Amino acid sequence: MSLNHAVEGFSKMSKEQKLDWLISSYFDNDASVKEQISHFWHRFQETQEVLDGFSENVISNHYLPFSVAPNFLIDGEIKTLPMVIEESSVVAAASSAAKFWLTRGGFKTKVISTVKLGHVHFTWSGSMEMLKAEEENIFSYLKDEVADLVINMEKRGGGIRSLKFKDFSEQLGDVFQLEASFETCDSMGANFINTVLEAFGTALEDFINETEIFPENYRDADIIMCILSNYTPECLVRVEVSCPLDQLGGPINEKSAKTLAYRFKKAVDIARTDTYRAVTHNKGIFNGIDAIVLATGNDFRAIEACGHAFAAKDGTYRSLSYCEIENNVFRFYMDIPLALGTVGGLTALHPMSKIALKILGQPSAQQLMRYTAALGLAQNFAAVKSLVTTGIQHGHMRMHLQNIINHLGIKGEEAKKVESYFADKKISFSAVRAFAESGFNVVN
Ligand code: MEV
Repeated sequence: MSLNHAVEGFSKMSKEQKLDWLISSYFDNDASVKEQISHFWHRFQETQEVLDGFSENVISNHYLPFSVAPNFLIDGEIKTLPMVIEESSVVAAASSAAKFWLTRGGFKTKVISTVKLGHVHFTWSGSMEMLKAEEENIFSYLKDEVADLVINMEKRGGGIRSLKFKDFSEQLGDVFQLEASFETCDSMGANFINTVLEAFGTALEDFINETEIFPENYRDADIIMCILSNYTPECLVRVEVSCPLDQLGGPINEKSAKTLAYRFKKAVDIARTDTYRAVTHNKGIFNGIDAIVLATGNDFRAIEACGHAFAAKDGTYRSLSYCEIENNVFRFYMDIPLALGTVGGLTALHPMSKIALKILGQPSAQQLMRYTAALGLAQNFAAVKSLVTTGIQHGHMRMHLQNIINHLGIKGEEAKKVESYFADKKISFSAVRAFAESGFNVVN
């Protein structure tokens, strides 16, 4: 094993020192690399310090585009949705789906529930029956022990909603679980939930081991871990679009409305059935969801993990969205768990998250759930519509042309020549390069 690049005390070094170590270890002391990296430091020291505070060993910033998708009619209100995403054509697709549904009734949403869950996992030599028999005593003790921690959340209308024991002893020998459900109002609530769970853990262990509630040989509870669950199937929002079949046509597809509807439904049914297709289909939904989740400073890993688990809730991974055609009405909809917050955490710290929330009109968590679900469904609609009509590459490569132009270092008038030459032609990296190599003349 080579220890060439091992380093002692890295976290204690200043940013300069970290950068110097990196440049000497990986870039042959090339000073220009240091310049490139520091080029992305924020020009205001104060803002850079805020960004530095989000993580550890920060040496620079990684930029992603912050875009907006306008014209989203959601429950009768027009919204402009902020999106942070690097993939060409995602924002364009969202905007075109928004415009499409703007004149067809828009997106209708409904928050079904906002309950979040957390668990204390513990080992114990007793049985579920014994826990059940003392449940009332135990729960009331636990609630008393965390009263100070929940008081503020209760003032905001939230707090602990329920407690129950779950038995894992059959699968895991001696493992039990305390499951707590919470309402965290406008905050995502991770810190609140984890703090309460840890206090529950200490209290539960004390109560079982230090009191005489159980006989002496059962005073051996051991808390393994206390943590919220990112699987929040009850923090759920429903979103749908619908219109009479004959209104489904539009300028961006040439097929008749009816053909489009049936091909679209078939594509969704395929994704409801085949996991290989379902993963890509749902990835399209998360193109939209992740983008607004990132823009608003929420935890996109938690949202993704939960969404994918929800997609597999019946034991097979399936499309999150559904399509129905009944009585000549096209209906496209999904239920999606979205544990989002609009106060606390990064939402209040990241300068661009604050702006994103301002664009959205300082939404409540439930409003943000509704907007996010609408963006996910819009993205899915646009992708599937392209797939069953023009094919995905048509729009995608058109948006990707700019990346190819940048990659080849083409600028100014020559870039314009590329854009106009490829306006009606098939775009590929090699075709653009050939066009450039030909001196920006027609390529045969
Ligand atoms: C690409 O980022 C997303 C799509 O593949 C989604 C889909 O296939 O439905 C276009």
